[in-house]
Amino acid sequence: DEASNQPFEYFELNGISFASPLHSLELLEWLKDFEMDPDIPLIVSYPKSGTNWVQQMASLILANGNIDSVKDKILKHRAPWIEFVPFKPGYTDYQLLTTHLNYQMVPSSAKNRRMKIIYVARNPKDVVVSFYHYHNCHHYLKTPKDFSDFLEQFIEGNVIYGSWFDHIRDWYNHKDELNMLFVTYEDMQKDIRSVIVKVASFLNKMLDGKTLESIVDHCTFAYMKTNAATNYRAELKHFNHDIGHFFRKGIVGDWKNHFLVAQNEWFDSIYQERMAGLPLKFDYDL
Ligand code: A3P
Repeated sequence: DEASNQPFEYFELNGISFASPLHSLELLEWLKDFEMDPDIPLIVSYPKSGTNWVQQMASLILANGNIDSVKDKILKHRAPWIEFVPFKPGYTDYQLLTTHLNYQMVPSSAKNRRMKIIYVARNPKDVVVSFYHYHNCHHYLKTPKDFSDFLEQFIEGNVIYGSWFDHIRDWYNHKDELNMLFVTYEDMQKDIRSVIVKVASFLNKMLDGKTLESIVDHCTFAYMKTNAATNYRAELKHFNHDIGHFFRKGIVGDWKNHFLVAQNEWFDSIYQERMAGLPLKFDYDL
C-alpha cells in the first residue's frame, strides 16, 4: 500500500513470478542471509490458503489473554510478510512473521529445529478459485482472461509465488528437519477450537476457557469480514470492493461452482502426477 498507483510489474527470480513494488529483487536477495529470530514464529503458506485466518488466531494466542490489546491492530502489522517491501530488520517489535515464499527462498536461518513454523495448507481447487477472484478485484494484479485461463496458469506455476504443487511438496518434504506445525484450512473449518488449541500448545501458550472462547469468536468469518483490522476494507487502493471482497465466501468446496467436469479430471490427473508419494490428503468437500 506504500507504493504507487501503477499496476504491478512482474519479474522473475529462480523461475518464480514476483510483483514490483510489492516485492523487490533487492529485498528477496537480502532475505537469503537474513538472521531470523527463532523466538519469533513464522507463518508460511501459499497465497489464499487461510494465511490471514492463522495470523488472526496466532496473534490472539500470543496476546496472553489480553485480546483487546491486539485485536484492533491491522493484521499485516501484527504479522508482517518478510518479503513485502519495505520489510526491514529491527522487526523485533513483532511477535509473529509471515511469508508466502517457497522453501528454497526462505532465509536459511529459518531452516532448523529451533524456528517455529506454522505451515497453512488448503485444498488446491479452492486455492485456485480464491486466487482467481483475488486477481479479479485487485487493481494491481493482472486481471485473468477467464477462469479456464487462470487455471492453466496456476497449474503451470505461472502465477505470483509460483507453483502450488512445488510449494507444498517442498515444505512438506522438509517438515521433519524443521520445527513445523502443519495445519489445514479444512481442519480450521471443521473444528476451529482444536486447531487453536494445537497452535497454542505449539507456541507454548496456555489458554484458559474464556480466552479460548474469545479467540474462537474473533476468528469467525463474519467477525473478520466486518472488522476493520482484518478485512482489508481500508486498502481501497488495492481492491475494487464493488467487484468482490477479500473475505469472499470462506467455505470449502466452492471450486465445484467453477470447475467443469473435464477441468476437474484434468486437475486430478495433474495432482496425482505432481504429488505422487506424498502422504497428504485434502478435503475437497465438508
Ligand atoms: P475465499 O476466497 O475462498 O473466500 P489468505 O488469507 O491466505 O489470503 O486466504 C484467503 C481465503 O481465506 C479467502 O477464501 C478468505 O475468505 C478465507 N478466510 C479468511 N478468514 C477466514 C475465516 N475466518 N473463516 C473462513 N475463511 C476465511
